[in-house]
Amino acid sequence: MKGIILAGGVGTRLAPLTEVTNKHLLPVGREPMIWHPVKQLVKSGIKEILVVTSTSHMGDVVNSLGSGKRFGCEFTYRVQEEAGGIAHALALAEQFSEGQKIVILLGDNIFEYSIAEHVHAFQDQPSGARVLLKEVGDPERYGVAALDEKQVVAIEEKPVKPKSNYAVVGCYMYDNQVFDVIRNTKPSARGELEITAVNNLYIKSGQLQYSFVKGRWTDAGTFDSFLEANTLLLSNQNRILE
Ligand code: G1P
Repeated sequence: MKGIILAGGVGTRLAPLTEVTNKHLLPVGREPMIWHPVKQLVKSGIKEILVVTSTSHMGDVVNSLGSGKRFGCEFTYRVQEEAGGIAHALALAEQFSEGQKIVILLGDNIFEYSIAEHVHAFQDQPSGARVLLKEVGDPERYGVAALDEKQVVAIEEKPVKPKSNYAVVGCYMYDNQVFDVIRNTKPSARGELEITAVNNLYIKSGQLQYSFVKGRWTDAGTFDSFLEANTLLLSNQNRILE
């Protein structure tokens, strides 16, 4: 399996911190934010990692991550020129994936524990996709999963009236059908190729599995969640990934 870290975007909600650097390079705990998803993937046994970021800060991202030697992995880099959404960024990984299964982490998602068990569950899954869910108090900020007894029946992106409290976190696992699935999705009202649209197509074909995240999880895209991410990693000092 190969890994992909999506670290694009302009980080508007964290301005002015994001005026001179990429959001994913801001400190979380004792390290730059993006080191966390890197360590998550390496800890899960994934050693080939594609990092997608925007033109403006690619140089800084490469300066921080380097070849991957210090993390025990190998990085490939790609530039996402326009802010076209998560699925648009993911489409840049088609060649890199070489037909293998892929695990995608959003560069600002921070977990208390290792996600390795979920990656292994996906490894054992013959085909399809897998998402991770977490019960949250503010589901309207996220993709929200509606569940029946066994399956995710639909995901809504930032719904005004969420059907559950289960957020779809920024960790997505796909087989190689995903690139055809992306070609079949249409831009949303905000003009982006949404990862939620991709996941809904997997649901339609009965191929989306899920598991629940244990422990705390947060993204770090707003000042409140940025503080939470810092508290989370400073309190366990990221020991789980050492
Ligand atoms: C994105 C996804 C959303 C997901 C969230 C997790 O939202 O669109 O479905 O729940 O990441 O961090 P964004 O943070 O880009 O608004």
